[in-house]
Amino acid sequence: MRTELEQGDAGGARLDDGVGAARAGAAAGRRRADDAAPSGGVKADVQGLNFFYGSLQALKGIDLAFAANRVTAIIGPSGCGKSTLLRCFNRIHDLYPDTRYEGRIILQPSGVNIVAPETDPVEMRMRIGMVFQKPNAFPKSVFENVAFGLRLLGEPKASVGGKVERALRSAALWDEVKDRLSGSAYTLSGGQQQRLCIARALATDPEMLLFDEPTSALDPIATQKIEDLIFELKRQVTIIIVTHNMQQAARVSDRTAFMYLGELVETSETKKMFENPSEKLTEEYITGHFG
Ligand SMILES: Nc1ncnc2c1ncn2[C@@H]1O[C@H](COP(=O)(O)OP(=O)(O)OP(=O)(O)O)[C@@H](O)[C@H]1O
Ligand SMILES: [Mg+2]
Repeated sequence: MRTELEQGDAGGARLDDGVGAARAGAAAGRRRADDAAPSGGVKADVQGLNFFYGSLQALKGIDLAFAANRVTAIIGPSGCGKSTLLRCFNRIHDLYPDTRYEGRIILQPSGVNIVAPETDPVEMRMRIGMVFQKPNAFPKSVFENVAFGLRLLGEPKASVGGKVERALRSAALWDEVKDRLSGSAYTLSGGQQQRLCIARALATDPEMLLFDEPTSALDPIATQKIEDLIFELKRQVTIIIVTHNMQQAARVSDRTAFMYLGELVETSETKKMFENPSEKLTEEYITGHFG
């Protein structure tokens, strides 16, 4: 059963194991052609991360540092584990039975291990916001959508309004909704609803924002607004974006990671990744000569 939090997330399709097996064998011996650590500070450090859905291992030994106040794009074919990796960051997997993490995701500067059993998943969802493929506005007013997390955190009534306005301004939506705050969120356009979801995630002042194909349901103009917003928001937060759109990855991200069959194949500065990837598999994927 999907939760309210995940409503609208399309989930992942299964990659045909037969097609990938040969390549997986080739990739396994030479994975992590990592361009070393990112320059500047590290916000989140994924170390030896394995993840299991029951007996299916969806993530295999992921080691990846996410640079602070940068946008990192995660690319790779359907079913390679992009969404699974993203969902580890805010512990959404905990909402489902028979899921298991191994390894660590260290969040800086606190040093907390996000996937440790003793770490509170609800707190992680406040500190690390997520925006899904399809806008998942709640059946509430525009205002109450943004106030949602603040109310959960027990924000004093007197300060909720100011924080809602600030989040809507940061999401570049305030001018379009300031006269209809009490109207249903469902009366907004798809692009506006996606920015509302971003405002809702921003309201609790998160340290990171995760975007899982945030524009695949939007037209080019709404897409550009979201991309511009992502560019602005990296001043405030560290961003990870999963996208199938190579141009989008090239436009919005500073660094790119390429995944294949649950493994990290390569990560580097985005410019290098697209102009001169280290791995043949990466080159085949980004040039569309795959499979
Ligand atoms: N809830 C689940 N239960 C069992 N297996 C799952 C579940 N969700 C995903 N998987 C499997 O885990 C693997 C990784 O899936 P994931 O959704 O992370 O891929 P993805 O890279 O995001 O793909 P897409 O680009 O299609 O969204 C796939 O083999 C998928 O079938
Ligand atoms: Mg996915």
